[in-house]
Amino acid sequence: FIGFDLGNTSETIAQDDEQEGIKENVVINFSHVVAENTPKGKAARKFADLVEERTNGKVSVKIFSNGSLYNDQNEYQALKDGRVQMIAPATSKLTTHFPEWQVLDLPFAFPSHEAVWEAFQGEIGTTLLDDLHNTEIKGLDLWYNGFKQITTNEKAILSPSDFNRKHFRIMPSPAIEEMYNTLEASTSTFPFNKTYKNLEVDFIDGQENTISNIYTKKLYKEQSSLTLSNHGYLGYAVLINREFWNNLSSEVQQVIKETLTETTDWVRRHSIEINDSYKRKLALNSNLDIHYLTNQEEQAWKEAIQPVYEEVESKVGQDLMNEVYRLKE
Ligand code: LMR
Repeated sequence: FIGFDLGNTSETIAQDDEQEGIKENVVINFSHVVAENTPKGKAARKFADLVEERTNGKVSVKIFSNGSLYNDQNEYQALKDGRVQMIAPATSKLTTHFPEWQVLDLPFAFPSHEAVWEAFQGEIGTTLLDDLHNTEIKGLDLWYNGFKQITTNEKAILSPSDFNRKHFRIMPSPAIEEMYNTLEASTSTFPFNKTYKNLEVDFIDGQENTISNIYTKKLYKEQSSLTLSNHGYLGYAVLINREFWNNLSSEVQQVIKETLTETTDWVRRHSIEINDSYKRKLALNSNLDIHYLTNQEEQAWKEAIQPVYEEVESKVGQDLMNEVYRLKE
């Protein structure tokens, strides 16, 4: 016995204090496919920083943006296999596994951002996230980006007949595909980060996305017109590997839940402005012909896409549809 070393003792006590709440060291690999300076990119970064800060670095969240680890076609399987712990795919990308999620892809389902918030935070959001129980993934929350707009390499799409015989890149959702087919356009569903290349080689005539994605991936450089149609919403499901989640201590789960709630609120409040700031940049710095749909044109689109509602209704059930009809009023 060589006596007490006070320095060491106090260090030990300090460590014990620190570890009282969170004992384990945790690494969360969080993969997503968009640029850092987008609503999802910024939200993921914010979430990571806050979780690390609140756990004194015990929980480290490593972000892999721009599809650098997995793309939108293989990230879901990677999450299921536990090769990555968190992802936040567009809700449309869950529709191939969970058909109810198509309800969010109904064209013109949400007349305003407020209606989207109500859908995400209310019965629609709860039902869809609950739908993932009994699977290898757990749905934690829904994040916001913005309404989708349409770009093309020719004159702007203004009337429903302008879709005729054009070829678009869309996300893989039967409801979105149905909308384009109803308008007599054809579609391809390759990964987000292949969109630019496919526009460049003219494999597709156009695509639909939020302004932040159109700007940060430079999609506008290969297109001549932009229609601000707001015809559909692009938001995200924040997902975690269920087994990984179940093995976390309740303290870590609590920090993650609280931080996510805060991050969701942040991205809800900031996503509109992020997209608007890129819209101003597009207006100033691009050669795009930018068109707003007139009320009359919008009405014509709504009438033309009506069959999509009947088709989707048979897949998502009456309860979710009633909620959509309520929010549309
Ligand atoms: C897309 O594939 O167009 C989007 O889902 C990309 C994204 O994650 O915002």
